[in-house]
Amino acid sequence: MELSARWLKWLHQQLFTWFRQSQRNLPWRQSRDPYRIWVSEVMLQQTQVATVIPYFERFLTAFPTLAALAAAEEADVLRLWEGLGYYRRARDLHRCARRLLADHAGVFPDDPDLLQGFPGLGRYTRNAVLSQAFDRRLPILEANSQRVLCRLFARQEDPTKGPLRRWLWQRAEQILPTADVGEFNQALMELGALICTPTAPRCSECPLRTRCLARKENLQDTIPYRPTAPARIAVQETAVVLRRGEEVLLVQRPPQGRWAQLWEFPHAPLEENETHERAALRVLQHLTGLDGQLGAELLTVRHGVTRYAITLVCFAAEYLAGDFASPFYQQGRWLKPAELIHLPVSAPQRRLARALVTPGRQQNLF
Ligand code: ADE
Repeated sequence: MELSARWLKWLHQQLFTWFRQSQRNLPWRQSRDPYRIWVSEVMLQQTQVATVIPYFERFLTAFPTLAALAAAEEADVLRLWEGLGYYRRARDLHRCARRLLADHAGVFPDDPDLLQGFPGLGRYTRNAVLSQAFDRRLPILEANSQRVLCRLFARQEDPTKGPLRRWLWQRAEQILPTADVGEFNQALMELGALICTPTAPRCSECPLRTRCLARKENLQDTIPYRPTAPARIAVQETAVVLRRGEEVLLVQRPPQGRWAQLWEFPHAPLEENETHERAALRVLQHLTGLDGQLGAELLTVRHGVTRYAITLVCFAAEYLAGDFASPFYQQGRWLKPAELIHLPVSAPQRRLARALVTPGRQQNLF
């Protein structure tokens, strides 16, 4: 479909009018500070607006400027990210802040070319920040705007696959206005978030309804194409809370892979035909090098992460002898339960840590 000047004028007018009346009041929309916008866009990758808001506010209070973030310890950055998931985003944000401080005196460059190759600053994030902060004429494509464009142009193919994806990026660029680009990009995303929703879109309230091709052909419920979700894979894991006097052992995960650098109670997936008790002993011997007396089963934590449904069975154990040595974990630390709050841990392990400092539960351990 050719985009006429008349059609583009209609699109801009409809979208801007709607957005100016209907947009949510979100904390990162109150300023054009590229640092604030950048943090918000990184948090909003894979995470919903309502979840992000309190994290965003805490993060900006702790690290109000790019220089403050660059000066922070990684563990403190991860601790503030805890619960948002996809921790690589936080590590990249932090590394990137340090590089921007070193290479650009802490000023976020108003130029996409200068941001090539920065960790975690892909095309979407770069363009989102530069269009919103500096009104750079750069397109964005994320889940919400992608859905809007697929429906508006009635594209039925898989938008995550090469051909349609390229076409969508081109369209996202062709439809940009010449001014207020950041506002336009946000309006597209907002329309996807509030009106053109994944299921039950509110077509009757949509400012683009009169020219939406999906609506015209009654395809709004089958566009965008969605592959059937693969079944969740059940994973059984065993964790050990090893006590030594008033302290428990926490270990740090390796710098690569899932939950990189985060702290946890030593744990491992169950092997075939293994009981949780045997797995707990194996975890102690092989993953910590310590001798311990296995105690009671403390609790079971269930947690879904990406394609996995994890069941984590947790045991208490009492330290007997030995020095920490592990082929997997980077280091071990003995901590009082109240000190667990300071280290970044994964979401399921935080639930275990919380249970340990909950009075009724604690009696099992201390
Ligand atoms: N999703 C990603 N970025 C967003 C933004 N700036 N506004 C609303 N939703 C978004």
